[in-house]
Amino acid sequence: MGDQLTIDRLRYSLRHHGALKTLSRAILGLAHWIEGAVFDYRLGTDTNTIVTLDRLKGIVSKNRRYGVRYQPSHPRAIRRLISKIAVRYQEYAFIDFGSEKGRAILVAAEYPFQKIIGVDFSPELQAIAAANIGRACPHRNIELVLSDAADYVLPDVPAVLFFFNPFHHAVMEDVLQSIKASLERAPRDLWAIYYNPMLRYLFDEKPFLKLLVQQEHFALYRNRASL
Ligand SMILES: C[S@@+](CC[C@H](N)C(=O)[O-])C[C@H]1O[C@@H](n2cnc3c(N)ncnc32)[C@H](O)[C@@H]1O
Repeated sequence: MGDQLTIDRLRYSLRHHGALKTLSRAILGLAHWIEGAVFDYRLGTDTNTIVTLDRLKGIVSKNRRYGVRYQPSHPRAIRRLISKIAVRYQEYAFIDFGSEKGRAILVAAEYPFQKIIGVDFSPELQAIAAANIGRACPHRNIELVLSDAADYVLPDVPAVLFFFNPFHHAVMEDVLQSIKASLERAPRDLWAIYYNPMLRYLFDEKPFLKLLVQQEHFALYRNRASL
């Protein structure tokens, strides 16, 4: 944790948010780190370290510069979000856009989703995700897709889509257009969990999506035709 990135973030926060807010953020960050460490310890996995995209080799996508660095989501928060979706999980796929080391996939595997899919453009992160899945839940129906999310075509099944602030505007817009095209081709039930929703306005302005729940750290949508 004590690398240059952490020091830079600390400096930035002190300058822009002051000492008190920086301290409360640091305590929250530590609590999340401990939660992630316990999660990894229990499963024997490796999901808890932050990696910047410029340190990763093998990403060939033109959208590399629009990606957000690898930062794992928080297991308890993911569980809370999934439990807001009252459907028969057995009939739904769970698709993590920007699946990195597989933290959200491993949490989704606690639920009986028909299939779990992780899409990421980093071969290094996907290799770690594959090893994590092999250790924690080798018998679940999990597919890792090495692809730019903007090029990924959804399977024609009901699904819960998961986004943990994975990329910037240009890619997110392409992904949303691809979801719209997929719904036109194969009308079905789709939910979208947007966790740390930095680009919420892009979701809000799409007529095919209805905002169901919004809180500071997430927004939950469902495709309007299913309501
Ligand atoms: C914030 S992390 C996602 C965290 C993860 N979903 C979780 O729940 O713990 C962002 C991930 O998105 C991936 N990513 C960024 N841009 C991408 C793109 N255009 N296509 C596919 N993956 C992308 C990065 O490689 C990184 O693994």
